[in-house]
Formats: sequence, structure tokens, C-alpha cells
Amino acid sequence: MRPRRISGGAPGSPGGDVAGGEGPELAEGERRTVAGGSAPATTPRRPPDPLPLGRVAVMSETYKLPDLSYDYGALEPHVTGKIMELHHDKHHAAYVTGANTALEKLAEARDKNDFGTIGKLEKDFAFHLSGHVLHSIFWTNLGPDGGGEPSGPLLDQIGTDFGSYDKFRAQLNQAASTIQGSGWALASWEPASSRIVVQQVYDHQGNHGQGTLPLLAIDAWEHAYSLQYQNNKASFFDALWAVACCAGVARRLDSAKGASIPVK
Ligand SMILES: [Fe+2]
Repeated sequence: MRPRRISGGAPGSPGGDVAGGEGPELAEGERRTVAGGSAPATTPRRPPDPLPLGRVAVMSETYKLPDLSYDYGALEPHVTGKIMELHHDKHHAAYVTGANTALEKLAEARDKNDFGTIGKLEKDFAFHLSGHVLHSIFWTNLGPDGGGEPSGPLLDQIGTDFGSYDKFRAQLNQAASTIQGSGWALASWEPASSRIVVQQVYDHQGNHGQGTLPLLAIDAWEHAYSLQYQNNKASFFDALWAVACCAGVARRLDSAKGASIPVK
């Protein structure tokens, strides 16, 4: 069981480290791929110029799997270490790989001016990127010291928008429990009307309001619970509140309130 630490950058942010972001300018026709890091050190520098037709834009960032800040078994008995290990190391890792692969293939499509699979690639990108972001948030919503209730501005906002913390939890649990197929229940900041909303997301990206910023994510995919709870997913969602961490949600809310959507 390996202790895992959150890597640099905000949880849920794509990537973190920049692979070759300060690397040399690319020569005509050369491309720095999202998975391949920086171009060779011997690549000659060239003066900055406008992006000419046929030259591929530089993409230097990759999505990376964030470490957990606690041991796999730290959430037991509510979530087993085996579930956490598989969930993080296999499922989340696959979304990270999928998002990077989709970006690579989109770059190749632009290179070749062949957009015959653009629909699949865009769907793949939305699916895998959203899976990466939501899992990254999910890990930070949980912890061995969780289980408390919110206070301060977070509790005030929940009271304003939902009436009480109990009603807020009840709506989230119902949203998670009634998903048809795979998905998530999210508590998100909705900046156009400055309120917290609960959303029932299909897969990782469907049924999701544009512009909303996830604060708290509940994974309702079978891989999150079935090894331990079989088909009793409602028990899993109840159990999560025993290890739910409000501090990260409060920090995320404070940050999200700085966002604005220019819809007027
Ligand atoms: Fe998951």
C-alpha cells in the first residue's frame, strides 16, 4: 500500500507540469506532441512569427494522474483499499491516457487535414478529460479525517440554496442513486446566477450545465463501489459522507466565486 501525495497544481486542473513548455521554437513542419514532451535540444531556434498555414501549433501540456494524499486503505471500512487502488491506478489513469491520446489524434487530424473521425475524437476528448477532472476532485472530497459538517461561507451558501445541509445531502444522494447507467452527482457553483446547484451527470460529461464549476463530486460508476457494495449503491453513497471532507469543498467554493460568465 503506497502512501500517495497530491502533486503540484490545483486539484482537478489539467496537467500540472508543463512538458517542454520552455523548449526551443520549432522549425517549419516540426511538431511537439502532447505525450512526447519537449523537442530535441538540438532543434534550431527560430524567431517568433505568426502561425503560418500548414504549421502545427505547439501543444506542450499533458494531463497527469494526481497522487492521493492518503493511503489506499485510509477510507476503510467505508471504501476498501482494493477499490481505491483499482479506481485510482486503473480507471482514473485510463482517463488521463485517453485525454492525452485524444489530443494527439486531434493534432494528427489537423496535420493531415483529415477530420473524418472528428466526431469520435471530440467525444473521446470530452469523456476522458471530464473523467480526469471529476476523479481528481473526487479524491480530494474524501479523507480519513472527513465526516464533519461544513461551516462558515460554505454552510451559509448551502443554507441559502438548499434550505439546510441535510436537504443538500439528500438531493445529492438521490441524484447519485437514480442515475440510469454510469455517472456522477455533482454539487457545482453556477456563476451566471451565483448559486450552488446539484447536477446528475451521465458518463462524465453528459447532462452538465455549461459554465458550472464542480465543487463536490460523487462517483456513481459501478467501479466505485461494486466490489464492496455489490448492487447496493445507495449504501455506498451514504457511507461516503462518513469520509467526506468539507474543507476542500469550501476552498473550491471560495475560488469558484471569483469566476464570472458574461451572459448579459
Ligand atoms: Fe470512477
